[in-house]
Amino acid sequence: MTTLKLGPVDTPMTATHAKNALFSSAARVARLIVRAIDGGAKEAFVPGYWRWIMWGVRNTPEALFQRIGALSRR
Ligand SMILES: NC(=O)c1ccc[n+]([C@@H]2O[C@H](COP(=O)([O-])OP(=O)(O)OC[C@H]3O[C@@H](n4cnc5c(N)ncnc54)[C@H](OP(=O)(O)O)[C@@H]3O)[C@@H](O)[C@H]2O)c1
Repeated sequence: MTTLKLGPVDTPMTATHAKNALFSSAARVARLIVRAIDGGAKEAFVPGYWRWIMWGVRNTPEALFQRIGALSRR
């Protein structure tokens, strides 16, 4: 089994979200998901750079996190 950890994907679910450079197309994400599963990964961040974004999110102190407009109140 592969646990998939996705970044923002341009799909109907996110149709009303403001898009930024972190968004990936569904086709690209689908290719990366297939590659991860076929490669036998136990866990995959998709796209790969999402691992580093989430590392930053996890390691940002709450007080600082809440001062970043795009992230606050989450
Ligand atoms: N988009 C993102 O940025 C993002 C990021 C991280 C995680 N995710 C997660 O990834 C999952 C899919 O997200 P999405 O953006 O692709 O959502 P979406 O645009 O709303 O698409 C959901 C898809 O699931 C299908 N579906 C819903 N219920 C189903 C069922 N019972 N059986 C078979 N198919 C069913 C829908 O088919 P129909 O169109 O036929 O209803 C649709 O194709 C969600 O769990 C979401 O939380 C999404």
